[in-house]
Amino acid sequence: FAMRNQHVADPAYYTVPMAWMLSTSVGDSLRRTIDPAQATPTPALTTPGTGSTTHYSVVDAEGMAVATTTTINDLYGCGVTVSGAGFLLNDEMDDFNTAPNRPNSWGQVQGSPNNVEPGKRPLSNMTPTMVLDPEGRLMLVLGSRGGPTIITQVLQVVVNVIDFRMDLVDAVGAPRVHHQALPDRLRVDRGGFAPEVIDSVRAMGHEVTDQSPGG
Ligand code: DON
Repeated sequence: FAMRNQHVADPAYYTVPMAWMLSTSVGDSLRRTIDPAQATPTPALTTPGTGSTTHYSVVDAEGMAVATTTTINDLYGCGVTVSGAGFLLNDEMDDFNTAPNRPNSWGQVQGSPNNVEPGKRPLSNMTPTMVLDPEGRLMLVLGSRGGPTIITQVLQVVVNVIDFRMDLVDAVGAPRVHHQALPDRLRVDRGGFAPEVIDSVRAMGHEVTDQSPGG
C-alpha cells in the first residue's frame, strides 16, 4: 500500500513507474526493510517531482540524441509568476555562494570562486549525459533532477550499466548513495542496503543517514 499510495493514479495524468515498481531491485530493497523482530515504520509520502528540475532524453531512429536538464531550482522557483505568461521565475541565485559557509537550499557549502558577480553563471550540478561505447556508438542518454545528487545519481546509473552489467531498469531502480563533502555525511537510500553494510560503513567512521530515493 505504501507504494500504491505513492504511485497509483490515472495513467492519463501520471506516468505510473510500472517497470520500476516491478523491478527485482526495488522488490529486494523493500524486502530488506522488513525486520522480523519489530514493526517497520511506514515512510512518509514523498511527492515525486517536488523539486523543479526535469530531465528528458530523446533518441531518434538514426541514433541522434538529445539530453536536456532544465530547472527553476526550488519548488515553484522564486514563487513569482509572470502575469499573463503562465510560467514561474526561477531562484537560480541559490546556486551561487551567497555567504561564507552558508549552505544553499540543497545543503551545498561552496567557496568564494562561486560568489555572486554581475554577468556570471552560477554553479550547476545538472549533468545531461551521453555515454558512447568504445566504437563511438550511442550507448546511454541520461540525466536527473535532485540538486547535488544529480552528479552521484548519474554516475551510479552509468557504473551500474557499464561495470555491473545491469539492464537500464535495474540500473535506475538500484539503491543509491550520496556524499557531497559538506555536510560530511553519507546519505543512503532508505531500505536499500543491508543493516550489516551500513554498520560496516559506520565502523569506518562515516556518519550515515537515510534519504528518500529520488531522481
Ligand atoms: O543546477 C543545480 O544544481 C540546481 N539548480 C538543480 C536543482 C534541482 O535539481 C531541483 N530539482 N530537484
